[in-house]
Amino acid sequence: MEAALDKYLEYTAHTTILDMNSMDLSTSIIASHNLPAFRMFSIDGGHTLEITLHDLNLASCAVAPGGIVILDDINNSHWLGVATAAQLFSTLQDNLVPFLQIANKLYFTTQSHHALYLDFVQTSMPELKCGNLVTSMHPSRVSWGQWRVCHGDMTTASQ
Ligand SMILES: C[S@@+](CC[C@H](N)C(=O)[O-])C[C@H]1O[C@@H](n2cnc3c(N)ncnc32)[C@H](O)[C@@H]1O
Repeated sequence: MEAALDKYLEYTAHTTILDMNSMDLSTSIIASHNLPAFRMFSIDGGHTLEITLHDLNLASCAVAPGGIVILDDINNSHWLGVATAAQLFSTLQDNLVPFLQIANKLYFTTQSHHALYLDFVQTSMPELKCGNLVTSMHPSRVSWGQWRVCHGDMTTASQ
């Protein structure tokens, strides 16, 4: 990982690596490292319902307003816990809300920035369909409630 950071980002000296199971990671541990609120948070670890839900909750507490949380494998039929967790998470809270599903990833931001990012996505990728209901690899159709999400790939959206 250090080698990849060095190669692609070239500022390893400013990188903090917490080499641990995310289930043991908490906001207090993050705070103890004096890290600022995250502008980007990628979730691509354990793909079970329990771990994904934990990681989403952690991300929700750790991102800055307007930060982006990227949930990988949202469309992976072998790991339905990811999509199930995303759906459950969306019914349990409204701090982090989804705005884009593309390339097997679901993108969230804080509620305060949802309209801004949705507008940006719609303007820059007019080929995407945007709506509140998605049909994807998940066996059931997924509703994002009041939140409109733009979709690409193997998903279709109802307006
Ligand atoms: C799908 S791979 C993705 C790895 C990396 N993000 C990439 O794209 O190359 C998932 C990795 O997360 C690790 N993992 C699984 N559960 C985890 C957890 N709760 N905390 C941290 N890592 C975990 C797995 O061992 C595996 O190496």
